[in-house]
Amino acid sequence: MKPILEKALGTEFEIFDLRDGNIHATVPIIESLTALSLSDNPEDSDIPFIPNSSYHMIRKLISGNHNFWLEGPAGSGKSSNVKQAAKSLKRPFYRINMNGHSTDEALIGAARIKGDESTGQPTMYWLKGMLEKAMLEGLDDDGKVVGPAAVFLIDEFEAAPPETAFVLQRVLEPEKVLIIDNDGGRMIKAHPEFVICAAGNTKGTGDIRGGYAGVNQVNFATRDRFAFMLTMDYDYPLEKRILTSVMNEKYHDKVDKMLALAKAIRKANIDGAISFPMSIRRLVAWARGFEIFNSVGKSFLYAIGGFLEDDQLNTVSELFQRTFGVRPDSDHDLLS
Ligand SMILES: Nc1ncnc2c1ncn2[C@@H]1O[C@H](COP(=O)(O)OP(=O)(O)OP(=O)(O)O)[C@@H](O)[C@H]1O
Ligand SMILES: [Mg+2]
Repeated sequence: MKPILEKALGTEFEIFDLRDGNIHATVPIIESLTALSLSDNPEDSDIPFIPNSSYHMIRKLISGNHNFWLEGPAGSGKSSNVKQAAKSLKRPFYRINMNGHSTDEALIGAARIKGDESTGQPTMYWLKGMLEKAMLEGLDDDGKVVGPAAVFLIDEFEAAPPETAFVLQRVLEPEKVLIIDNDGGRMIKAHPEFVICAAGNTKGTGDIRGGYAGVNQVNFATRDRFAFMLTMDYDYPLEKRILTSVMNEKYHDKVDKMLALAKAIRKANIDGAISFPMSIRRLVAWARGFEIFNSVGKSFLYAIGGFLEDDQLNTVSELFQRTFGVRPDSDHDLLS
């Protein structure tokens, strides 16, 4: 039987697929799928977090135990806001990242085999998925509430194949129940305050505006189970505070122009001229590059232009020139 590779957080584990019905005796034993796919420390960032109105709203939704959907452009702060809100409410935080190949195994677990300790005979067991673990946070073995419920963030929700999203259907209903058919119909009942948040670049309606390849249309019945749909967008006053906090004070006079250019690039993105979302990450990388490349323009080219094909690079270079008065590759020193 061929081993399949499961990749998570840059680590590769070799595990064996039982779906063809064969049992193989020499398999590595992996204790929990959560070890493969869970990070409780996802959007680690050296940028100090600054709460804004979206953050306060998210915090309210979590403390009211509402499932919600968060839509917004790349790098607008969706994941970090949910994580920070969960952290401030002292709720355990789980995050899973979906992609086109995500199967329901990452969520609900899978049948695996291991060698029996005394006889060496292969035996089957259920490797728990991270959804089950998250649902049971704060409950004791009898299902009694003994601690706070988890917040479960499903990032890039629309990238998941529809059948994977479907397993969440009943968990999103008020009874919060998960039935694992492949484990003898075992029923798991979540902590009553368990919250699921889906985050994505669309409202689950598919890639209408372009620029987000690989997103699916999410079944209305699934979307309908989220109580609220929140739209997040780039927040200019917040970005100004972030940029000034990461930049040397002597460059602060550049911030307004940087944000004006970011706005122009984002408009070009919405208009379809550029297929590149100008995220907070790009802005921060550009700002940090000032001292590395000793130039505003060159740093722009390495932090932003480098991601673009020639025609789009030309478009952003023109936008740069309109804002700063020179081409980004000019030798004119904007830092002095
Ligand atoms: N309120 C904030 N204060 C400080 N930094 C922030 C804030 N919001 C976002 N950031 C920073 O912006 C970057 C992007 O944020 P994040 O990853 O949360 O965005 P996202 O919308 O989830 O992006 P993607 O669509 O790529 O998943 C991160 O480096 C994060 O630290
Ligand atoms: Mg994210």
